[in-house]
Amino acid sequence: MRVLLVGGGGREHAIAEAISRSKRDPQLYAAMSRKNPGIAGLCKDFILIKETDPAIVHFAVKNKIELAVTGPETPLAAGIPDMLWDAGIPVAGPRKLAAQIEFDKAWTRNFMKKYNISGLPGFRVFRKGQSGTDEYIDELGDVVIKPAGLTGGKGVKVMGDHFGIEGAKIYAREVLKKDDIVIEERLIGEEFTVQAFVDGSALAFAPAVQDHKRAFDGDKGPNTGGMGSYNDAKDILPFMKDSDYSGAKKIMSDAVLAIRKETGIPYQGILYGQFMATAKGISVIEFNARFGDPEAMNVIPLLDNDFLDVCMAVVTGTLGETKVAFKKQATVCKYAVPEGYPDEPVKDSVVEIGSTRNAHVFYSSVYEKDGKVFTTGSRAVAVLGTASTIHEAEKIAQDGLYALKGRLYSRRDIGTEGLIRKRIQHMEELRA
Ligand code: AMP
Ligand code: GLY
Repeated sequence: MRVLLVGGGGREHAIAEAISRSKRDPQLYAAMSRKNPGIAGLCKDFILIKETDPAIVHFAVKNKIELAVTGPETPLAAGIPDMLWDAGIPVAGPRKLAAQIEFDKAWTRNFMKKYNISGLPGFRVFRKGQSGTDEYIDELGDVVIKPAGLTGGKGVKVMGDHFGIEGAKIYAREVLKKDDIVIEERLIGEEFTVQAFVDGSALAFAPAVQDHKRAFDGDKGPNTGGMGSYNDAKDILPFMKDSDYSGAKKIMSDAVLAIRKETGIPYQGILYGQFMATAKGISVIEFNARFGDPEAMNVIPLLDNDFLDVCMAVVTGTLGETKVAFKKQATVCKYAVPEGYPDEPVKDSVVEIGSTRNAHVFYSSVYEKDGKVFTTGSRAVAVLGTASTIHEAEKIAQDGLYALKGRLYSRRDIGTEGLIRKRIQHMEELRA
């Protein structure tokens, strides 16, 4: 089977490996912005191109692609899946109208309200140039300011973490000059992610994962794309209740049906729900129209099915008849990122990878030149530990990190017993 993968990061390296393991005699083609050595090594051919460039469709047609899989969000917002479908190529990745659930946060909050989808925090949308933000911030008291459009996870600012009430007012007015914004109630609790394959109506859910957005140990420092993530050897995380997971599944299923009603387009691809477990139950932080990075690296390797079988079920609307299962194992994924990341990262610096023992390596934002691997300034290389407990998986991942040489750093605490205990205690305090 001739398959096109769009994207060139760690998430896409995990997808490329899953495609390569398929029994459908896969021939992999990739469209990526730079030469990811992990993906390039698995490809029959690749094109170095912006992931939003419509010329990707010509590359797909020329290579007689039978199925396309999209990794990141940018090609979705650019309508690349729509163009591929129009060229007769099925895509596991939602069309533009359906993918709005990720790239327009104002649309999504209004959509959740219209279709009565639960987990909606108090919010108000302000259109570019509109006034009244100061008054609404005063009314809520504790807020989060979100630019409506895509910001690579770096535009959302949270009161208490990033600024006080006066700072929130200034930031809201500043962003409103360029973009619509959502001002919403700040939720207090622990975050978790649920990812699912979706065929337009049926969903197949992966185990819950927790990402770590902050750059430094102890959840300190600036927000990043995600420094690492873990899951347990069951569907829920140690701080979660079963009802948190079943509630998340219900919200995601409701959203998929409502998207079809609202847009007329079936949602086919991956849906990512990010939730906050709070004292009052779960709330939706956001939806993404793709796997998370790093969260994809936790769950894709655990998939028991042939990845291409599941993707074919997604594009043919037959996921409801397919039994999708994930291995009951814990994983810990840790990113090594360039020194100075995210604000002033070291670029074009050599990364050497020694023996990572039992840890698995995924290449992310690095490129290969003259047989060497270099940083780009974004998250460089991820290591994954897999075991029957989070604790064991963490040790394997950490061992793997020691084998990476270069001007890099990582978070020591992700997946450690100390940090997990802190998460459990936090939820116990809130629920008491
Ligand atoms: P987003 O880009 O929507 O994922 O937001 C980035 C980060 O901001 C999330 O991972 C949360 O840590 C935080 N965040 C977003 N919305 C809220 C909220 N309503 N309450 C508290 N934190 C939030
Ligand atoms: N790790 C968060 C995301 O992929 O959006």
